[in-house]
Amino acid sequence: MNTHTHEGVLASLTAALRAESDPRSAMERAVAILHLELPSYTWVGIYLLEGDELVLGPFLGKPSPHTRIPLGSGICGAAATKRATIIVDDVNADPRYLACSIETKSEIVVPIMDGGRVLGEIDIDSDRPAAFGAVDRTLIEAVAALLAPRIAAEPSRTL
Ligand code: SME
Repeated sequence: MNTHTHEGVLASLTAALRAESDPRSAMERAVAILHLELPSYTWVGIYLLEGDELVLGPFLGKPSPHTRIPLGSGICGAAATKRATIIVDDVNADPRYLACSIETKSEIVVPIMDGGRVLGEIDIDSDRPAAFGAVDRTLIEAVAALLAPRIAAEPSRTL
């Protein structure tokens, strides 16, 4: 993927989210656009933090057995705990990895932050090894920043 593709995806996403005030719909749109536009993004999902667990929200790809991930588990738990993006080029070489599909080779997890508070995260798996680079990190961190105020404003969220 080149920078141009990623910039186009971010532009479509920004436009789509501008028209979407409902947080759940905004998350669904973001997941759908990323999954559709970037073929190496095999599984795209959003986890939301509830207490000390990450709970799976909208996703596209094969159903995951990991619908609730404790903060101490997985690459997802590590990214939320560190409050930082994690890119894993070879998931099978990472002892933290919780397998979702045997085809998955690489993963990126980007926290969705409201100030210093973790609201959740965007998790993307690829069947390609080392599929995620700097342009992917920039794109997904921008998407997380677009979603954060919508999720933070959701009245039903108890964090
Ligand atoms: N691989 C993640 C678990 C989520 S599934 O990939 C959808 C992890 O290690 O935390």
